Amino acid sequence: IIGPDDPIGAGGTDAVHRAGAKCFAPTKLCAQLESSKAFTRNLLKKHNIDASPDFLVSTNAQDPQRRFFYDQLQGQIVVKADGLLGGKGVLIAGEHFSSFDAVESFALASIEKFGRVVFEEKLIGQEFSLISIVDGTTVLDTPAIQDHKRAYENDEGPNTGGMGCVSDEHHRLPFLSEYDIAHAHQITDQTMKAIKSETGQAFVGVMYGGFIKTANGVKLIEYNARFGDPEALNILPIMKTDFLEVCQKAVDGRLSDIHHLEFEPVATVVRYLCPKGYPTNAVRNVPITTHFSLPQHKAQEENQQVFYASVAEENGQMILKGSRAIGVLGIGKDLQEAYLNNQALIDKFEGPLFYRKDIGTIELIQSRVDHMNSILN
Ligand code: AMP
Ligand code: GLY
Repeated sequence: IIGPDDPIGAGGTDAVHRAGAKCFAPTKLCAQLESSKAFTRNLLKKHNIDASPDFLVSTNAQDPQRRFFYDQLQGQIVVKADGLLGGKGVLIAGEHFSSFDAVESFALASIEKFGRVVFEEKLIGQEFSLISIVDGTTVLDTPAIQDHKRAYENDEGPNTGGMGCVSDEHHRLPFLSEYDIAHAHQITDQTMKAIKSETGQAFVGVMYGGFIKTANGVKLIEYNARFGDPEALNILPIMKTDFLEVCQKAVDGRLSDIHHLEFEPVATVVRYLCPKGYPTNAVRNVPITTHFSLPQHKAQEENQQVFYASVAEENGQMILKGSRAIGVLGIGKDLQEAYLNNQALIDKFEGPLFYRKDIGTIELIQSRVDHMNSILN
């Protein structure tokens, strides 16, 4: 099983195959789904999968189409460099630029570096992640989740890897219907089949769809070819189906033996404790204290779990290493209970830490529902 995007994108799976073993992760060709935004948009277009915003892939520094596209959408666009830039590859109208000239210099840099740039219509709605396990023929979904990428409360501040994720006891979110999930599932199913016909290879592993529910239905923002972080912390602890068996069936091309993945009927709230100053200017190499004793620093409560990430143990102390430090999971019969369990566990840590207090609150979830309703009306 290969976890992260870099070794997958670099062909780690192909190397495992050459060594004569099976691998739960897509090949390099299939993983272009994550590594190239232009590949994915062109794939959907060619196979008539109606899930993309208006878009333009531009490869030529002199291309007049970029100006036309910008003007046609009155500047309401998103511009994506066509390669991995460590989270700095996407510019959004109104947040990162307000003139064509600013867009153009970024576009030219992307064309120079990666050979192309993608312009897209800016979509308005509520984002959600639907992570599926696939084998090229069958798609099995995990609970739909909402991530919170901005560093600060009310979705302000710089983008991060994800400050926290929520999922309700119906394995959806209050602003999504069963139909929306079925729609996202269908997009993933069609895309999985399109990749096979395009590359001749079955996509085996995780297709993580970043979707957005808009006034015109569910659209695809992007695919990742791996689990989400922190989404996996919501999903895997409540999964009842045996994870290794699912991986085994996937690499054997026999996922259809499993009809659906089973999860406990509970809500989950995950929040990351981060070093003060994260992500731009994080404190590091400073200790934090917990109410758990090292090294068995595991929360034992059934509805609370701790995941240590960017921390190290030095001289019996827990030290911050500068990135998202500790993932904290609260589980409950509904979101309110999951939030309270999360908070109780968060309160057991002390040090130069911060976290997003709004994630998982009824107020924030209600504001998502209100936003969605205002778009649909
Ligand atoms: P990424 O860095 O690729 O994960 O994308 C960052 C974020 O950009 C996404 O999570 C969305 O919030 C936003 N984004 C990307 N494409 C669009 C789009 N077409 N419309 C609106 N927002 C977008
Ligand atoms: N939580 C976002 C990601 O894993 O990309």
